[in-house]
Amino acid sequence: MAHVNLDRRVKPTVIVAESPEAFSRVAADVITRQIGIRSDSVLALPTGATPLSLYAELARRCSENLVSFAELHSFNLDEYVGLDPEHHNSYHAYMMEHFFSKVDIDMSNVQIPNGMAPNREAECARYEREIGAVGGLDLAIIGLGANAHMGFNEPGTPFDSRTHVAELASETSDANSRYFAGMQQMPRHAITMGIGTILEARRILLMAMGITKAEAVRASLEGRVTPHVPASVLQTHPHLTVVLDRDAASRLTVSPR
Ligand code: PGA
Repeated sequence: MAHVNLDRRVKPTVIVAESPEAFSRVAADVITRQIGIRSDSVLALPTGATPLSLYAELARRCSENLVSFAELHSFNLDEYVGLDPEHHNSYHAYMMEHFFSKVDIDMSNVQIPNGMAPNREAECARYEREIGAVGGLDLAIIGLGANAHMGFNEPGTPFDSRTHVAELASETSDANSRYFAGMQQMPRHAITMGIGTILEARRILLMAMGITKAEAVRASLEGRVTPHVPASVLQTHPHLTVVLDRDAASRLTVSPR
């Protein structure tokens, strides 16, 4: 764990949004600011329910010429193993529907792990190489699982993990099965950026909304730094911004600003 200094706790910037509109506005501001600093920034992008309003807000700003993604490089956090990019449950399809088709991003600068790669280990290594080739992640935007996972880094994943094939935790399969026709259709594995990959981002934006995330938020921000709570490692990151709604923040003991 060369790059994880567990003794170093850094106070994150924690913002509690008072409304869904404020949530997406504050999160979009973080990204817009990053692009303002460097138009060819390298972002890690999440999927799931949490970022939907953020993507809608970014698309609105792009259509009003308030921000451009034309030079942006993006790397999605993860993709299901065994789902074709065309499959409606793939994260390729999610990203096309909710973000890429709505903004001016250059699709040749878009990367998502290939869940259909015949050689998954080679695909993971390729993904790491591609991130390195554009200078590493400037900003990793991540959602939080109810079990405090980031990407598909489930509890127990080593903090120094790189992009790898992960087995979904049963609680993750339960949570995500609502998107699939049934448990049988649900992939059991995913290719995910590792925790070490995410931690090397120069800035991290963590987002969580809803009461089901409240305990994961508390454990991640105020609990012990342990692989059993994957996002707890973010306490060691020097540039962490956290955007929460009231429910997700409700178990924090230290009052956020
Ligand atoms: P959600 O998922 O945004 O759909 O709640 C977040 C996650 O599991 O990482």
